[in-house]
Amino acid sequence: MPSRPPSPPLTGSRPVGAWDESDAARRVREMFARIAPRYDLLNHVLSFGLDVVWRRRAAHRFRHILGQPGARVLDLCCGTGDLALALAQRARSERRQVHTGASAALMVCVDFARPMLVRARKKVASDRRGTPTSAEPFAFCFLEADALGLPFPEGSFDLVTAAFGFRNLANYGQGAREIARVLRPGGELGLLEFAEPAGWTAPLCRFYVRRLLPRIGGAVSGDPGAYHYLPASVASFLAPEAVTRLLTASGFVDVRVELWACGLVAFYAARKASSAGG
Ligand SMILES: C[S@@+](CC[C@H](N)C(=O)[O-])C[C@H]1O[C@@H](n2cnc3c(N)ncnc32)[C@H](O)[C@@H]1O
Repeated sequence: MPSRPPSPPLTGSRPVGAWDESDAARRVREMFARIAPRYDLLNHVLSFGLDVVWRRRAAHRFRHILGQPGARVLDLCCGTGDLALALAQRARSERRQVHTGASAALMVCVDFARPMLVRARKKVASDRRGTPTSAEPFAFCFLEADALGLPFPEGSFDLVTAAFGFRNLANYGQGAREIARVLRPGGELGLLEFAEPAGWTAPLCRFYVRRLLPRIGGAVSGDPGAYHYLPASVASFLAPEAVTRLLTASGFVDVRVELWACGLVAFYAARKASSAGG
């Protein structure tokens, strides 16, 4: 077999066997496309239902934006749409309190795995069934696109979010720069990601994530590789301090990190600098 030319070290996710960034992205996309039918079930089972709480809590952190009439929100790596729905739910209650009758805001959901997007679209449609359009805080739009090359002009959004997606990007630096590009100056970023557990519960959490979770996930999804990839991608992802440095270097200010669930989940919030001085 001809040997492949050496490639520069990856600065992003690298599923086993991937030899460069585009191959890594292809493998990630195909893996999520394969597990899409069981994705929600496994999320809820493997997190003991806490994933719902994490997304809801993240949405609550951005209530000042979600309550604004005409807010433009981009949910990157949207998967089956659960974070977008949590944001919409938050917006509904904010608007009831603050801006009744305000004009609809825009929620753009982006993912590069089509089966995920198909499910997101269906879920949003069934969530809205029976609600008059005028009472909906968001006009939803679904787009199959790569987070590393977004088809939006500079400064298009007030808020960009990504739940458990950033870790999967084949190039973290490019991902952060692309998010900064599509945010307006002063716009905000919210990332939810897994992290390596810390503290006295860390050995137990590690045992669960590295030993039990891949077995349960593999058995239920029928795709053992995908649920071995999960702990491996968490272990090789950037530590919260490195994410903070990356965001700062990419033009963000006021970077904040909250660690939830014994440090297993990290919530990052940041603001795109308004000017050269921040
Ligand atoms: C772990 S899922 C998270 C889905 C959802 N945000 C949630 O909270 O459940 C990661 C998603 O990121 C998507 N993804 C990964 N890399 C991507 C990229 N470069 N561009 C667009 N989507 C990407 C995958 O297709 C997958 O649907």
